[in-house]
Amino acid sequence: MGRLTGSDHGPADPEPWDEAAEERMRAWYGSRHEQPDRLDLAVVDRVTGACVGETVLNQWDSGNHSCNFRIALAEAGQDRGLGTEAVRLIVGYGFERLGLHRISLGVFAFNPRARRAYEKAGFVVEGVRRDALLYDGAWVDDIVMSILAPEWERHHGHPEAAE
Ligand SMILES: CC(C)(COP(=O)(O)OP(=O)(O)OC[C@H]1O[C@@H](n2cnc3c(N)ncnc32)[C@H](O)[C@@H]1OP(=O)(O)O)[C@@H](O)C(=O)NCCC(=O)NCCS
Repeated sequence: MGRLTGSDHGPADPEPWDEAAEERMRAWYGSRHEQPDRLDLAVVDRVTGACVGETVLNQWDSGNHSCNFRIALAEAGQDRGLGTEAVRLIVGYGFERLGLHRISLGVFAFNPRARRAYEKAGFVVEGVRRDALLYDGAWVDDIVMSILAPEWERHHGHPEAAE
């Protein structure tokens, strides 16, 4: 997971999961309501009721009506369409309820699954931050993607259907 989200720099790098780590996680999620400039939401599997991940609108730029987007699902939530659905839900919320104009994200070149999920929901590639990540001794590009309010208005997260 840390490899895909850019928080690890190699297979030997991940922080150990111990009591202190769990405490940090509880404190983090327990304090999400205290930050009005970002939106952290849990992704819940409707079938089992289990929390399988998180999705976040952060780096709010109020003057330019823009935000960054990120998502991470645990293995139990992956490859069943939940990610794409969660992207559509939070992006729709960002445009329709929060009045955003632009939502952007970064996805590493070694993560075609995430890129595909974003493309299915209507994000388009706008550039590449070359060699942005050093992972296990190799440089990896960070692909910058975005979606704009008029695009959302046109396809509501289903660009293929609108073509
Ligand atoms: C990225 C993530 C949100 C995607 O959500 P998901 O529920 O697993 O993905 P979905 O099932 O909605 O869609 C994945 C799509 O990618 C495709 N895909 C899967 N593996 C692929 C690969 N190796 N290459 C290309 N496409 C791939 C799937 O076939 C599917 O497309 P389709 O519907 O056209 O068949 C989720 O897997 C995740 O959180 N992964 C771990 C953390 C992470 O990568 N976060 C993103 C960091 S930018």
